[in-house]
Amino acid sequence: MSFFSRRNGTLHVEDLSLSEIAARFGTPAYVYSRAALTAAFNAYKNALTGRDALVCYAVKANSNLAILNVFARLGAGFDIVSGGELARVIAAGGDPGKVVFSGVGKSAAEMRAALEAGILCFNVESAAELEQLDEIAASIGKKAPVSLRVNPNVDPKTHPYISTGLKSNKFGVAFEDARTLYRRAAALPNIEVHGLDCHIGSQLLDPAPAAEAAEKILGLADELAADGIHLSHLDFGGGMGIQYSDETVPSASEYLAAILKLTAGRKEKLLFEPGRSLVGNAGVLLTKVEVLKPGSEKNFAIIDAAMNDLMRPALYDAFHDIVAVTDGKAQPQCWEVVGPVCESGDFLGHARKLAIETGDLLAIMSTGAYGMTMSSNYNTRPRAIEVLVDGAHAHVVRRRESVSELFALESVLPG
Ligand code: LLP
Repeated sequence: MSFFSRRNGTLHVEDLSLSEIAARFGTPAYVYSRAALTAAFNAYKNALTGRDALVCYAVKANSNLAILNVFARLGAGFDIVSGGELARVIAAGGDPGKVVFSGVGKSAAEMRAALEAGILCFNVESAAELEQLDEIAASIGKKAPVSLRVNPNVDPKTHPYISTGLKSNKFGVAFEDARTLYRRAAALPNIEVHGLDCHIGSQLLDPAPAAEAAEKILGLADELAADGIHLSHLDFGGGMGIQYSDETVPSASEYLAAILKLTAGRKEKLLFEPGRSLVGNAGVLLTKVEVLKPGSEKNFAIIDAAMNDLMRPALYDAFHDIVAVTDGKAQPQCWEVVGPVCESGDFLGHARKLAIETGDLLAIMSTGAYGMTMSSNYNTRPRAIEVLVDGAHAHVVRRRESVSELFALESVLPG
């Protein structure tokens, strides 16, 4: 079921037209569908029916408080990678007791804050981090719940920038070192071993690498049990891909099937850390055509959104479908869809066939994940407004930045 549908020639989000949203709130605007967020979460929940499991939404994909709050109300846990994300989860009404803390470079202050908040588990990524966490826990009289993030050395077959489970990546503890490090963890006085964690990469369309990683993780869990280390949970990370173009994408239940089969009858609770698959297809970036610049080699459609709003095309050469919000009268032509930023890499889409005129609205699809969270103020461009649609209602969940806010933290030299 799509929550973005064309009705009477105009693209709608749930029961609101994107033209009306643009008229009310301006452009560029990130527009999200609450029903789409809910459906994506429920797809995981349904796939996990009857199992002791917790879905920890990876906050980095989209950390708007309203989105975190939607997931918190649905019973989600959260996967965080910074003290800032922990503060967001708490501000949004999330339960710190359902938070797992991933990341290769946690600071002492972040470890302390997470211990004080009483998070579910630290996903520890190195021997040094384990020792430091033990000391910090001692200093505040707490025990730190720990999983080791183990690098299963599985090729996720995705973009090299978003593949994390290979030996050559900076993430996780090497598989062959894990058993020794678990023994060390079990011996540390302020560490409590709770689980085992892995995450092999993002935008995975094939469930096989995830299943291969799971198999290795389960084997390791059994070896640890033989060492007298009994785990209460197994965390299989995130990574399930979404449809951006015409890819074939497994459903949550198809993606999880192999893992659920492998873990059938086991006592450990199952954790997952999906980000993109919960929010990616629940959002669009709504933008307006500012200038049309036909040329002898290429035609440029310059829009009011740019690489600072959506970095994925410039950074990964990622594809996002771009559609006209209303059926136009113009002749379809091939356009380079670009932003106003002073970089040749500032493109949102190459060679797109669009029937557009100056002032028309476009929707850049599937931008709910890693869109706003990776945005910047490059070229002193205020960040886009964010609107969450719920049925026929639109809620501003982040107002548009003003230019003066962009330099409010700066000052000039005295005298
Ligand atoms: N858990 C850990 C430890 C992670 O590092 C990530 C993502 C996730 C979970 C969530 O993965 P997901 O379900 O969203 O695939 N900026 C890139 C994606 C970077 C992903 C980083 N880690 C992009 O725009 O494609």
